[in-house]
Amino acid sequence: MAGLARLEYRGYDSAGIAVVTEDQNSLARAKKAGKLAVLAAELKEHPLAPGTVAIGHTRWATHGAPTDENAHPHLAADGRIAIIHNGIIENHAALRSELKAGGVTFASDTDTETAGHLLAAEIDSGLSLAEAMRAVTRRLEGAFTLLAVDAREPHTVVGARRNSPLVVGLGENENFLGSDVIAFIEHTRTALELGQDEVVVITPDAVIVTDADGDEVQREPYSIDWDTTAAQKGGFPTFMDKEIHDQPAAVADTLRGRMDDNGRLMLDAGIIDEGVLNAIDKIVVIACGTAAYAGMVAKYAIEHWCRIPVEVELAHEFRYRDPVVSVKTLVVAISQSGETMDTIMAVRHAQQQGASVIGIVNVQGSTIAREADAVLYTRAGPEIAVASTKAFLAQITAAFLLGLFLSELRGNKYSDEIAEILEELDAMPAKIQWVLDTSEPIREIARSMAGERTVLFLGRHVGFPVALEGALKLKELAYIHAEGFAAGELKHGPIALIEKDLPVFIVLPSPRGRESLHAKVLSSIEEVKARGARILVLAEEGDDEAPLYADHVFYVPEAPVLLAPLLNVVPLQIFACSLAGAKGYDVDQPRNLAKSVTVE
Ligand code: M6R
Repeated sequence: MAGLARLEYRGYDSAGIAVVTEDQNSLARAKKAGKLAVLAAELKEHPLAPGTVAIGHTRWATHGAPTDENAHPHLAADGRIAIIHNGIIENHAALRSELKAGGVTFASDTDTETAGHLLAAEIDSGLSLAEAMRAVTRRLEGAFTLLAVDAREPHTVVGARRNSPLVVGLGENENFLGSDVIAFIEHTRTALELGQDEVVVITPDAVIVTDADGDEVQREPYSIDWDTTAAQKGGFPTFMDKEIHDQPAAVADTLRGRMDDNGRLMLDAGIIDEGVLNAIDKIVVIACGTAAYAGMVAKYAIEHWCRIPVEVELAHEFRYRDPVVSVKTLVVAISQSGETMDTIMAVRHAQQQGASVIGIVNVQGSTIAREADAVLYTRAGPEIAVASTKAFLAQITAAFLLGLFLSELRGNKYSDEIAEILEELDAMPAKIQWVLDTSEPIREIARSMAGERTVLFLGRHVGFPVALEGALKLKELAYIHAEGFAAGELKHGPIALIEKDLPVFIVLPSPRGRESLHAKVLSSIEEVKARGARILVLAEEGDDEAPLYADHVFYVPEAPVLLAPLLNVVPLQIFACSLAGAKGYDVDQPRNLAKSVTVE
């Protein structure tokens, strides 16, 4: 249960456990819709018999509603076999029809259950659990991590994976399987990863990995070196609050010790030949959700500093539209978890086309970190709350470092100019801290807005992705309809949405920056104000014009235009978090979401 609690970031709409009981002939199972706490309460009331091996699962529904019936583990062979699954079995409908035609009755709407019944059929034909698992995976299409137990093999758990992670934890007289090392980190810090289409059999004292043909594979164990205390709430009421307050450290740590003796950026893993980087004619940033908005901020900076065209694309759109990618393309994959399936598939596609991939990733040893040609880790520490906050700031920071590195390498900027920008970056953690320390007014207004049905966010230039992120945070946390718009685009249609008292947040650029940008956004404010909107403005300290236009102004410290998103997004995170809190919502685990979206 403790391991499952740490895996709840992958999904929390139902949970279940199956145990091979000590009498060694049967399985005991409990599963419930809802968060893990619901299962814990059920187990308290109806404890399972002690067992020899067990499997457990937290679910993020893909096939079948989040009900008790659809929760994992699923049973087969009259309850003798139990199976759990992450991913999507894409040919499940055909398999289900085939199994039904053969007389199998289904107890759920899940794709997973088909794998359980196929496993049972293979075991009935005389195969061991491991052999049966290999045979079943040959029949499955899509992405899966599967774990199964059979009451007739009471000391064995069998696992298999394709396009979805599975890690083995190596203990003393005990072994573990998890989708992430965090599941078993309190028991062992030695782990090994499973390769594509490999099958693993664990018993208390052995781990055997085989490939799809059944040939044994030797995998090198590695040590997990992170500190689990970073995953505690640290006195804050929620992980979200804590992680918002972790942001000065997340940016500072991501910047720390990055340059070698020659002033060159040090990547954390892998190498991309400098000749290749010099020859690139395009950068494509692929990511999803908040990470994609970090990519949008990066585009403004990298294009400005490096004079290389940068495209930012949602990974799932990139992958399936036949993108123009070549050996001269540098793909930057941004992902907190490193396990977002859409981004993983896009990385693989780009590599197949000959592109070099740099991963900007937070979780060490994650799939994207392992598969990218090189990695620049964001050092945000574990991000537990489902809605991303500190990872966003760390991703922007890491992308800025990459931009500065490329700029120097390609001779677009001189070292002293780069040193100047790095100095400005070094000053950002203290400024973020200032925003946190002066955040009471934004909290107060958020609490007063719990009854709002729609909030719009406007921004221009780097303020545009900030507006998108502000809207996403409000949707995710407070379930309020929110939209982010490029301020200049408003007059081309969205302005029709404006009505009396509609709250509109505007990210106002610095008046010290490009003068016209500030003036243009003030014009956008005039346009929505004229139509009765309630104006909330994020402005730079010392901007005396902002109060003339706004109903409420919230100030952030002065910063260079390109770096301002590191400050401007913070009040918007606090706004969404406080408003959701006022509505009594669980800000760490908002409804319908998963921290890491491991299906396409
Ligand atoms: O782990 P990743 O950074 O790849 O996740 C990408 C998105 O799923 C993630 O940012 C999502 O949009 C969050 N819910 C945002 O708060």
